[in-house]
Amino acid sequence: MEVIILPGATEVGEVAASLVADVVRANPAAVLGLATGSSPLGLYAALGRQVAEGDLSFSRASGFALDEYVGIPADHPQSYAAVIEREVVDLLQFRPSRVHVPDGRASDLNAACVRFEDDIRAAGGVDIQILGVGANGHIGFNEPTSSFASRTRVKTLAPKTIADNARFFEAASDVPIHCLTQGLGTIMDARRLLLVATGAAKAEAIAAIVEGPVSSMWPGSILQHHRHATIIVDAEAARRLELAEYYRHTYANKNPVS
Ligand code: F6R
Repeated sequence: MEVIILPGATEVGEVAASLVADVVRANPAAVLGLATGSSPLGLYAALGRQVAEGDLSFSRASGFALDEYVGIPADHPQSYAAVIEREVVDLLQFRPSRVHVPDGRASDLNAACVRFEDDIRAAGGVDIQILGVGANGHIGFNEPTSSFASRTRVKTLAPKTIADNARFFEAASDVPIHCLTQGLGTIMDARRLLLVATGAAKAEAIAAIVEGPVSSMWPGSILQHHRHATIIVDAEAARRLELAEYYRHTYANKNPVS
C-alpha cells in the first residue's frame, strides 16, 4: 500500500487526478470505478480542467458508480445517478451510455445488483477504483462488519453515515436508510485502488485502515490486502498515522520507475 501525505485538499485532488489521468492516457478505454461524496470532487475538478484544455479524453472510457440510495426519486439532486451525471459525466465528457449506477429504484433490487456485477464483468473489470472513506471506515457503503467477500447488494446505512450525509439533504430524516453498494469483494477485484481523504474527521479512519489490524470493523482496512492500493491524504487526515514520517520520506524518494 502506498500512502501519500500532501499539505491540503488542493494537492490531494491534483496528485490523485494525475494518477487517474495516467491510467486513462495509457488506456483510453479504461474502466473507472467512481466514488461520490465530497472527497473526490477536487480530483474530478482537476481532471475536468485537463479535459477542458484538451489534454485528456474520457470519450472511450467507462465508469461504474460505487453505490446508490434505495428509493430516492430519479430526479432528486442527491441521488448518486444525478451526482455522477453532474460531477463526472458532464464534467469529464464521458459517453452517458458508458456510465453505470446501481439501480436503486428497481422493483427487484437483488436482480439489479446481479445485473450491475454482470455489467462490470462484461466491461472487463475495473482498471482503477476511486474511493473515499467514511468516518466509520466504510468504503462504498460497506458499513462496519461488512463481509470482505461481499458483492453488490442492499445494505442498511449506519446511523453515523446517515448523520454525516444529512448535510446533502434538507433534514437527516430525508436521507434514505438503504442503499445498493458494490461489495468489498467487488471493490477488491479492481486492478488498482485509489482512496482519497481530507480533513480531521477522517483521521481516525485513515489510521485504522492504514495501520490497524485488517478488520471488518474498519472495512477500508481490506485495502491492506490489495496488491496495488494508493491512499492520498492531506495533513489533517494523516495526523493520527504513526508512520507519517516514513510515508513522507518514501514519497519524497519515490522510485521513478514505480
Ligand atoms: C460514496 C461512497 C462513500 C463516501 C464516504 C465519504 O460513493 O462510496 O464511501 O466515499 O462516505 O464521503 P465524503 O467524501 O462525502 O466524506
